[in-house]
Amino acid sequence: MATWDLSETKHHLFICNGSSCNKAGAEDLTQAVRREISERSLDDVIHTTRTKCNGRCQDKCVLIAYPEGIWYKDLAAHDAADLIDSLVNEARMTNKISHCFDGNGFRRHGDVPVGEFKDRERVKKVSKVL
Ligand code: FES
Repeated sequence: MATWDLSETKHHLFICNGSSCNKAGAEDLTQAVRREISERSLDDVIHTTRTKCNGRCQDKCVLIAYPEGIWYKDLAAHDAADLIDSLVNEARMTNKISHCFDGNGFRRHGDVPVGEFKDRERVKKVSKVL
């Protein structure tokens, strides 16, 4: 357990560790991203959090960067250095983006699949709402 001082934090990365992403290498990705951050002494600047499923399993491994509002897809451990480079240089790994926030919503990038419509009953089932 920890309670970190976030006052110097500029980027928060949510690294999906849900079951689909884990089967596709999320643990290796998580370790590689954290190693890159540590080796560059960016622990104060880039905060990471493991999450459960983010609801875009087809895009595995999924990683979400805030406050940029960028959802990344198809990430693997070997992408960690480029990902951290992109944050440090305020650039974007455009070949790995699935969605970007444009002020009004998250817009799909390129040929990323739309996904399912959020039918109320289906959401209840998937979200395990009682
Ligand atoms: S397990 Fe990662 S988006 Fe579903």
